[in-house]
Amino acid sequence: MKNSISNHSEIMLPRLKNLIFFLVFLISAVISTSSYHPLDSLTPSELNQTQTLVNDYFSSPHQNERFHYVGLDEPEKSDVLSWQSSSHTQKIPSRRAFAIVRVNSKTHEVIVNLSNNSIISDKVYNGYGYPLLNFEEQLAAGNLTLSYPPFIASIQRRNLKLEEVVCLSFTVGWYAERKSSRLVEVMCYYLNGTVNLYMRPIEGITATVDLDQMKIVAFRDRAVVPVPKAEGTDYRSNSSVQDLVKQVGPGFTLDGHVVRWANWELHVSFDMRAGLMISLALIYDSEKGQYRSVMYRGFISELFVPYMDLTEEWYYRTFFDVGEYGFGLSTVTLEPLKDCPENATFMDGYITSQDGSPVLVPNIICIFERYAGDIMWRHTEAGIPGQVIREVRPEVSLVVRMVAAVGNYDYIVDWEFKESGSIKVSVGLTGLLEVRGTIYTNKDQIREEVYGPILAENTIGSNHDHFINFNLDLDVDGVANSFIKNNLQTVRALGNTSPRRSYWRVNSQTAKTESDARILLGSGATELLVVNPNKKTKVGNFVGYRLIPGVITGPLLSSDDYPQIRGAFTKYNMWVTPYNKAEKWAAGLYTDQSHGDDGLPVWSSLRNRKIENKDIVLWYTLGFHHVPCQEDFPVMPTLTGSFELRPTNFFEHNPVLKPSQYATDPPNLSASGDNSGAFTR
Ligand code: MN
Ligand code: CU
Repeated sequence: MKNSISNHSEIMLPRLKNLIFFLVFLISAVISTSSYHPLDSLTPSELNQTQTLVNDYFSSPHQNERFHYVGLDEPEKSDVLSWQSSSHTQKIPSRRAFAIVRVNSKTHEVIVNLSNNSIISDKVYNGYGYPLLNFEEQLAAGNLTLSYPPFIASIQRRNLKLEEVVCLSFTVGWYAERKSSRLVEVMCYYLNGTVNLYMRPIEGITATVDLDQMKIVAFRDRAVVPVPKAEGTDYRSNSSVQDLVKQVGPGFTLDGHVVRWANWELHVSFDMRAGLMISLALIYDSEKGQYRSVMYRGFISELFVPYMDLTEEWYYRTFFDVGEYGFGLSTVTLEPLKDCPENATFMDGYITSQDGSPVLVPNIICIFERYAGDIMWRHTEAGIPGQVIREVRPEVSLVVRMVAAVGNYDYIVDWEFKESGSIKVSVGLTGLLEVRGTIYTNKDQIREEVYGPILAENTIGSNHDHFINFNLDLDVDGVANSFIKNNLQTVRALGNTSPRRSYWRVNSQTAKTESDARILLGSGATELLVVNPNKKTKVGNFVGYRLIPGVITGPLLSSDDYPQIRGAFTKYNMWVTPYNKAEKWAAGLYTDQSHGDDGLPVWSSLRNRKIENKDIVLWYTLGFHHVPCQEDFPVMPTLTGSFELRPTNFFEHNPVLKPSQYATDPPNLSASGDNSGAFTR
């Protein structure tokens, strides 16, 4: 007891200091909002300006003008890097917006110059595939179905209450048919005693809606299947946890959207397609007395979720959550103390509505210091007679978090930066399963293929995958990098040199072209390394970072299956391409109803470009095969997968030998003198 009391009083003092710091930080944040970073997300006024320019350009009244995407048209990388190297003093490159607008059923790509208030270009896209679905049209398609007389008759036939029915829009994919319209399948669910609509599908009924016409073009009612019961599906808690917001200091500084924490500097932005984006991540090297670049940009480029159910209402459910629904559009407000800890700082984000106006989503990203009770490194030395040496450094890290709730599923995305130079990226899966209603109430009754396990009475959880592709433009200590596969090979010991018969050694292969760097992990031991071949450590190793995969997951669908053709980026766990500003989305820019003729596999396989000593980008897929189980019902506890980007001969030695200032004094921001100049506070 005595211990805990004294600990408590020790913690109070830093908190008070942090409160004072937080006020200073707030004031400085207000002052610095006028200065842009070239990679900042579009501001509300820039979004408004884009809306006005686009509306004027298509000279309203164009009844049929709909915005599907508005975001920053990224400046040229060379301009951003030259701005960065001028210590942010150079004038920033001109601000541009990229908008995807449907006008009279045609897809227009419009680039706007915000600096001189003009339209730079307007290009009609005539290829396969369609842009992101916007919220309003998904809602309208549902409402259209709810008021459609044959649908109403179907609901009545099942003795269901129409006012308890909720309808949702599902993207339809592509199955070699020649579609010429933007279609969705509308599927409906039943509330009546629960908020967990996803556990109560109304099977058998589908309405096909043409989104441009906003018209039902097909309607089917195939079979009456019992709706799973409401009982046991609710996941709400009755007790309301009090929101005791104890504001402690953030532990980092924020200059506009540039975060500085410990030895890290990085830029945080939000995009309505990608969600959270991390840019210009630099780490301070106290030995060299300078910041060194690690990553130019990192974000989720696609999230492919194919379901393994071939029935008529299910076979097309092969979702691309980034390209079809927008990972950013699906990003939700985070709840203080629950989604993020009490020391978190929140950032707002903006998405655009169908008419192009900005919509504020408060607290869309949170940033916080994490004290998980982990050990950064340690050693106890008991081998010296007469003494015991113990040296331990506790781990403190910085987490940047967002949560996207794409319909039923919630994805928690964390970028965790460590003082040791590691970046750990993790994705947590939670939320609600997509389940199918069935006549069965027990496993013993099932004699046919039902495509997944039974989870509750009348409820089948469909087997499915989650493939999350990360676009990682590493710039390890500069732009020119090479990708190296370190294959660990067993060597037989020949002759009588040793009683041993084998050992392993590292066989390094530098990838010359893209085909050398397509890697399907799982067979053999391979290290995936990005080096700067123009820079060596004092002892002669190339400076580098390696990617350490988590659980290794590859595709199980046949390569000629249509969803797999569209999601062919999953064919390899790793691809490496030369940097190209236009190549951002692993499954192509127009993913809805895509044919697989755009995207990473096409760019990479057709051209097989040179990637040695060039600006390169890694595309890494984190995957999950998900066989649902009863604990996933009615709401799924978080299942997490992750990978790590870890310095490998980047520093001359362990960069965290000195005691961290965080070790004894948690979120302390006082500018102490013994931090090796790593802090610019
Ligand atoms: Mn690069
Ligand atoms: Cu899942």
